[in-house]
Amino acid sequence: MSKAIPVIAIDGPSASGKGTVAQQVARILGFHFLDSGALYRLVALASFAGAQQHSEAELATLARELDARFDGDRIILENKDVTDALREESCGRHASVVAAIPAVRASLLARQRAFRREPGLVADGRDMGTVVFPDAGLKVFLTASAEERARRRYKQLIEKGMDANLPSLLRDLEERDRRDMARSSAPLVAAADALMVDSSKLGADQVVELVLGEWRKKQNRVL
Ligand code: CDP
Repeated sequence: MSKAIPVIAIDGPSASGKGTVAQQVARILGFHFLDSGALYRLVALASFAGAQQHSEAELATLARELDARFDGDRIILENKDVTDALREESCGRHASVVAAIPAVRASLLARQRAFRREPGLVADGRDMGTVVFPDAGLKVFLTASAEERARRRYKQLIEKGMDANLPSLLRDLEERDRRDMARSSAPLVAAADALMVDSSKLGADQVVELVLGEWRKKQNRVL
């Protein structure tokens, strides 16, 4: 049944603007929104507690049993609001390490697919169009140059009152891209049928318009 519920998959590397674009598209269409990266960040954050080293099997169990919920724009882990802690670069870096473990990815699959509810879903991540929702009605792969992405991430962090350093952000992004692309399980790669969008010279609103235009075109073709 859920296969009939429309999905728009928006994938791409760190700080390519996926999150902003996906949220706006979801809001305009009245669709649900899945920030799949937040799930990997939650696993990373939960694994910091207690400071002990976890085996891959323990991390997979932790991912499967994660006591987390999305409450509007807040993210709650074990009754604690962890929204800001999740955005820390250290958490993103560790998320990309745990995300390379196939058993962790498998543990999060059902949780991600459960976001597919009427009237539709906009899903943001790395493997939304390739692995999690391969039947998505529209797949977008959003990129931008590493320099532009580092500048955007810098601005985001500063606006949130967090510490940021541009050269180290650029290094981190490039390292994370390499790890996300090189892993054997669900690597960061565009689906063969994805619309490729380079947002280096486009504002978020322009990308939103482009995605909505593409979605409407597809809907008209179906009707
Ligand atoms: O915000 P940013 O794009 O930097 O990161 P994110 O989307 O919050 O994702 C954090 C990390 O989780 C990424 O570096 C990926 O390694 C991993 N991730 C993934 O493997 N698959 C997804 N669908 C989403 C995120």
